[in-house]
Order: sequence, then structure tokens, then C-alpha cells
Amino acid sequence: MINTLTFVDGGVAVTELERVPPGVDPNVPSSARVYDYLLGGKDNLAVDRAFADRLLAVAPDARTTTRANRAFLVRAVRLMAKLGIRQFIDLGTGMPASPSVHEVAHGIDPSASVVYVDYDPVVCLHAEVLLSSGENVTSVQADIRRPGSVIKDPEVNRLIDFSEPVGLLMVGVLHFVTDEEDPAGLVGEFADRMAGGSHLAISHAMAESAPEARAQWSAGTANSPTQSTFRSHAEVLALLDGFELLDPGLVPVQDWRNDELPLFPDDTPPRFRIDGAVGRLGRRTAGRGDDR
Ligand SMILES: C[S@@+](CC[C@H](N)C(=O)[O-])C[C@H]1O[C@@H](n2cnc3c(N)ncnc32)[C@H](O)[C@@H]1O
Repeated sequence: MINTLTFVDGGVAVTELERVPPGVDPNVPSSARVYDYLLGGKDNLAVDRAFADRLLAVAPDARTTTRANRAFLVRAVRLMAKLGIRQFIDLGTGMPASPSVHEVAHGIDPSASVVYVDYDPVVCLHAEVLLSSGENVTSVQADIRRPGSVIKDPEVNRLIDFSEPVGLLMVGVLHFVTDEEDPAGLVGEFADRMAGGSHLAISHAMAESAPEARAQWSAGTANSPTQSTFRSHAEVLALLDGFELLDPGLVPVQDWRNDELPLFPDDTPPRFRIDGAVGRLGRRTAGRGDDR
């Protein structure tokens, strides 16, 4: 589908055409495409760029924080792989970004298995074409608010042996699960299915962000099917219940095991803040798996 856009540039009305994938509403921003735009990608529409630009107007660090979130994901996967994890489930994959989870995992062990899971059909299409490069990498379209649909998916079970430790990634996705949808319960359902020694990486948009950034985000998603919930440090810690947090615990993503130069050198707290943590499951018997 071709979408016609008209905007004013230097006092002149300009009309532009943009190609919209089938089944996509060009008037509704998508979290995957907004994130892609903030990362500097090209897989986004005017509606996504407008949403992100309004956020950047009140939180100019949002782009830096988004990149720091992606870098956190890369460091978390590399650490898990170094700790011996050989199978990963990436819940809320997003548009392809480099390096991808399987590139990082395969840098440590090329035989590692990676399953990408997202509910956005366009993300899944990209994942199938660009990410699923080989027999031990696959992509599944599913909604993580129904953990059973992921845990029981035949393609997930083709690559993931739940009797062995799993690296579960919930990076930049749980803030799209509302309190009514019970994010702690859904994390618990995945944890119940995972073997001792499994690891969970979480990152989350924080209630400690500037009020203007939170308000802008909420206003931008008011008419969207994707609602966001910024949670406090204590609320995000509660989502990690049952996991033993690796050092340094739940901290802003740019500070999590990051040896690079400070991203926020003058120590000003980011106006758009995302915190991240990696936790380890203790010894347990895997295997319940609920129907949700
Ligand atoms: C902000 S992106 C994060 C991408 C990647 N995890 C990262 O941190 O670099 C969030 C992704 O989660 C996906 N998502 C949001 N809610 C979801 C749900 N209930 N089930 C599956 N995917 C979801 C969106 O489609 C989007 O691709």
C-alpha cells in the first residue's frame, strides 16, 4: 500500500509517498518501528518518526538511551553465552539490529540455538528473512502475554530443550504489558518452565524518567493498541522475583557492566531512563508450563 503524506517544509507544502507493508495501519505508531527509528534504522513510517520526534523534543537523550538498551542486550547475551548458555529465546525481537542475538551467541559458540519471538507480523517477516540464518535459528510469531503459546510452540520446542538452561531475553518489552495483564505472572510462567541455571535479561522503561517524557509517551500511545507502563525500580525488581541478580543488579542500562566511556558524561540523569538486569534461576525441576 502507498501512503500519501503532506507536510510543510520551509513554508512549502510537500507531498511524499511511503510504502506501507500489507496489513499495517500507517496512522498508528508501532513500538518496533519507533525503536528502529531511534536506533537509526530505516524500517519505520512517518507516524513512527513523528512519535519519536515528539519524545526527543522533551527527552533529547531518548536516542542515546535506546542505543544503550541495545548495547545492554548485546552484553547480556555475550555474558550468558560465556557462562555456558547455549539456547536463547528473544521475546520481543524488534526489527533487525546489528549485532543480532544469534550473531553474538554464535561468536561464542556457533552451535547455540536462538528463537526470536514477536507479535508484530512485519518484525517476524524481517526475522525470517534476515535473522533465521541456519538450522539453529528460527522466528515465531506469538504474543508473550500468553506464555503457553510460546512454551508449547512446536518451532520453539524444536530448538529449545527446556530441561537444559535457557537464556530468556525480555529486553525492552515488559513495559508493553499492563498491570492488568500481570507481567510478574507471565515472567513466573516462563520461569516455571525453565531449568536451574537458566538466565533472564530484563530491561524496562522507568517511572524515574522525566514526567514530560512519560506524559509524551502516554499521549502518543493513547489511541494505539500498544499501551505502555513505566515502572519504578521496586516494581521492576518485583518482576525478577525468584532470580538471583548478577552484579551490579538492576541499574540504568548504560551502567550495566559497561567498560566504555560514559554515555552521560556530566552525570545528568537521563530524561528517558531504561534500567536493566540479568538474573539467574537457582537449581530447580523444570517442567510445569501453564496454559495462558
Ligand atoms: C522496543 S522493541 C525491543 C527490541 C529488542 N528486544 C531490543 O531491546 O533491542 C519491543 C518489541 O517488542 C514487541 N512486543 C511488544 N509487545 C509484545 C507482545 N505482547 N508479544 C510479543 N512481542 C511484543 C514489539 O513488537 C517490538 O518488536
